[in-house]
Amino acid sequence: MGGTRKPYIAANWKMNLDRTRAMDLVKTLKARIGDGDDREVAVFPPALYLADVAAVAQGSPVGLGAQNLHWEEEGAFTGEISAPMLRDISVDRVLIGHSERRRIFFEKNEWMGRKVRAALDHDLLPILCVGETLEERRAGDLEAVIHGQLEAGFDWVREEEAPRITLAYEPVWAIGTGETATPSQANEVHALIRAWLAVKFPGGEVAASLRILYGGSVKPDNAGALMAQPEIDGLLVGGASLKAETFLPIVEFDR
Ligand code: PGA
Repeated sequence: MGGTRKPYIAANWKMNLDRTRAMDLVKTLKARIGDGDDREVAVFPPALYLADVAAVAQGSPVGLGAQNLHWEEEGAFTGEISAPMLRDISVDRVLIGHSERRRIFFEKNEWMGRKVRAALDHDLLPILCVGETLEERRAGDLEAVIHGQLEAGFDWVREEEAPRITLAYEPVWAIGTGETATPSQANEVHALIRAWLAVKFPGGEVAASLRILYGGSVKPDNAGALMAQPEIDGLLVGGASLKAETFLPIVEFDR
């Protein structure tokens, strides 16, 4: 991974764990990660537990994120949560456009730019997720799909604020399937994403500094090889982030 990009390991708990287990896991993490100087670690619990987890994580370098947000600040949007509400309970980051939001809940690609905008406007650090399905990859549409998702997500982003965004490349066919993209397959797409950034933000600084995480069946035994790739700056971990026994070895990966 690139020299100045600090490794970022993010735990996407999805709709898993309960209040006690969520708090215990953060306690364990907090005790193990030290001052967080050499790598950034964050957890993305179910929204209902964010405040409890925030209380446990307080005073530690463990970042705390929501799994989604609405772009409006308030209003008649039953079931939704806004950026100011997340800030109100000490949340400092947010996942945007996870493939499960896009595919199971039919969130539109066009919404992602508004969500990124809302996150930036309210001082939340977004992780914008992109990734292709197996059908799209087989049809030769990988590049078009990824570019389309990037175009939508960065629609209202100014060059100087772009480095606050993190990207996650998560091939849909590798999520929760046990099938990981090979480190070189992932690296290739990360390079394609970085090339897109270099065109979108011609100054060059954004492409060089923005971190691109890989996600999709990351496990203790493949974390090191993935992180050894020059374009992979971190990992977005689902299933293996639910237990300290599997998440800590990923956090403590050795290239
Ligand atoms: P997984 O999920 O690690 O369980 O494949 C990754 C994700 O969806 O973020």
